[in-house]
Amino acid sequence: MKMFRNFSIVFLFALSAGSTIAQVKNISVNIDQPKAEIKQTMWGVFFEDINLAADGGIYAELVKNRSFEFTTPLMGWKEQKKGAVGGSLLVVNRTTENKNNPRYLRVKNALSGNYGITNEGFRGMGVKKDMQYNFSVVARSSKDTKLQLRIELVNAKGETIGSSKLSIDNTQWKKYAVSFTSSATDPKAQLNIWFEGKGSVDMDMISLFPQDTWKNRPGGLRADLVQLLADLKPGFVRFPGGCIVEGRDLANRYQWKKTVGKVEDRELIINRWNTEFANRSAPDYFQSFGLGFYEYFLLSEDIGASPLPILNCGMACQFNTAEVVSADQLDPYVQDALDLIEFANGSVNTKWGKLRAAMGHPSPFNLKMMGVGNEQWGPQYIERYTYFAKAIKQKYPSIQLINSVGPYSDGDLFKFLNDTLRKMHADILDEHYYRSPEWFLQNAKRYDNYDRNGPKIFSGEYAAHPVGIPNGPNKNNWRGALAEAAFMTGLERNADVVNMASYAPLLAHIDGWQWTPDLIWFDNLTSYGSPSYYVQKLFSNNRGTQVVPIEMNGEVMAGKDSLYASACIDKNTNELIIKIANTIGKEQSVSFNLSGLKNANTKAMLTYLRSDDMNEVNSFEKPVAVAPISKQVDVKDKVLTLPLSASSFSVIRMKL
Ligand code: AHR
Repeated sequence: MKMFRNFSIVFLFALSAGSTIAQVKNISVNIDQPKAEIKQTMWGVFFEDINLAADGGIYAELVKNRSFEFTTPLMGWKEQKKGAVGGSLLVVNRTTENKNNPRYLRVKNALSGNYGITNEGFRGMGVKKDMQYNFSVVARSSKDTKLQLRIELVNAKGETIGSSKLSIDNTQWKKYAVSFTSSATDPKAQLNIWFEGKGSVDMDMISLFPQDTWKNRPGGLRADLVQLLADLKPGFVRFPGGCIVEGRDLANRYQWKKTVGKVEDRELIINRWNTEFANRSAPDYFQSFGLGFYEYFLLSEDIGASPLPILNCGMACQFNTAEVVSADQLDPYVQDALDLIEFANGSVNTKWGKLRAAMGHPSPFNLKMMGVGNEQWGPQYIERYTYFAKAIKQKYPSIQLINSVGPYSDGDLFKFLNDTLRKMHADILDEHYYRSPEWFLQNAKRYDNYDRNGPKIFSGEYAAHPVGIPNGPNKNNWRGALAEAAFMTGLERNADVVNMASYAPLLAHIDGWQWTPDLIWFDNLTSYGSPSYYVQKLFSNNRGTQVVPIEMNGEVMAGKDSLYASACIDKNTNELIIKIANTIGKEQSVSFNLSGLKNANTKAMLTYLRSDDMNEVNSFEKPVAVAPISKQVDVKDKVLTLPLSASSFSVIRMKL
């Protein structure tokens, strides 16, 4: 009887769709056989300052090289003369007085108001009509100076679209601030500072922020980009990378202590992606650390995600210099890890907890896990990791440690670390795979046979690369995204082993990227999610709490008939959630037999992603070319029969 009813539904659909009757695939879902728990951390985000993700990206500062610390001190700045005589610039270095921020700019002016400097921003400055902009500068004037700054925002044509004035009236360093409104929107505006009057002024930390940062925090983050992250409802935020943790050499490794405290005291360093790919050179790419560890913790908290810092383990990037700190000099590195836990969780009476409180967050950040090293490999990693693990576990036994198993998902480097760390009973192994869409489809069963009692898995960096070269012509197309969706059903099915996963990289500036594909693209004013973004969003927004079995012909669905599926229940909302990818370019009809469903006849919400064109991408012009579409569907007699569109990924949600 049930079979007959299923057939008739499909028959009707097939007629109405004007297509031929396809064979219906029978799929069983056993709602009352919950298996693995799906951790709250299951789907997260990986943040790395690559592709102008931080400076020039999510960190909303509009002035590039605000403290003149770039290797070329006036990079990003231009002297303006407009026929003026007598004006001059000098970059002064006061290392002994201010080791972290040694340089400042001394400007001597004769009188006219026609002498000035211009900052070009990060590939221009994105400004919006009627938005308030907050200018600030740390400055001092020489004795007897009567100098006024005329701050001017100009559009790409050089026309003034906002201005204000500021008198520098003190011989001691002091922060001055003034605000003005932009009369126009322009993605490529610039900032002029004109000097009016006679004398000399010293300037540092020249800054311009929009008013509309995330939560309107002064000196904060770009709201549209944070919103895209918040919409993912990520379980964790991994920061600050990626290879940026390692640095090309140890001197340029990421050191969290240099990224907290007052912004003007944070020591700028080069961004390793500045020179990584000769064909995508970004000579003006530095790390100001305006977005530092405190801000990363705050961001994680704001968007309801667990913070996941990754620390340098005494090893620089092995693809670059492979420099390691001598094992007997590892103590400061290990101490950094211990101090970070104190910074995040310690009482306000501890040294680092006190700093956290002084920065505005007396309550702890609730740090529970930490990565030791990024993509390290070889015995030198094990040697260094062992020191870290011993010290951290001794002082903070509940902190879960995340280990590198190298940059590859198989091969000798992977095998060595995987075997060794398993023998060492590591907590969580961080696997990375940037592979072809075909690899993702073929590996949907990757975790089906992993040791259920061994370390947990963090799919810490992954993305389907349709072309295969990250610094080349890769696109975030639907082909890659659909393969990721299919693969991710395998991650969910194995949620007892795979506890965390994050696509990488996260953000890319259209005029300043080094690596593709990326999850979210932005320019100076706008942003959009790639098809992969919507895949991530559908998984993360439909996380569920327990995996339940979903099978076709008694087998897990991991590629047979080009179908990939997982199912879970959400105990909190009392719902069943089915995720299914149809990776073939033709429609397929499926019947889900929902055993254990209490309401035999009910409604379900179907949300799907699809495209007829596997090369389809989202773009500034068509930001939602591939984006979720939802509609209601009927469950009859505990059976849901659906046509799955060609090359589609669907999520079905229904009350139990
Ligand atoms: O995500 C880009 C880079 O890929 C990361 O920095 C690194 O960990 C991996 O090789």
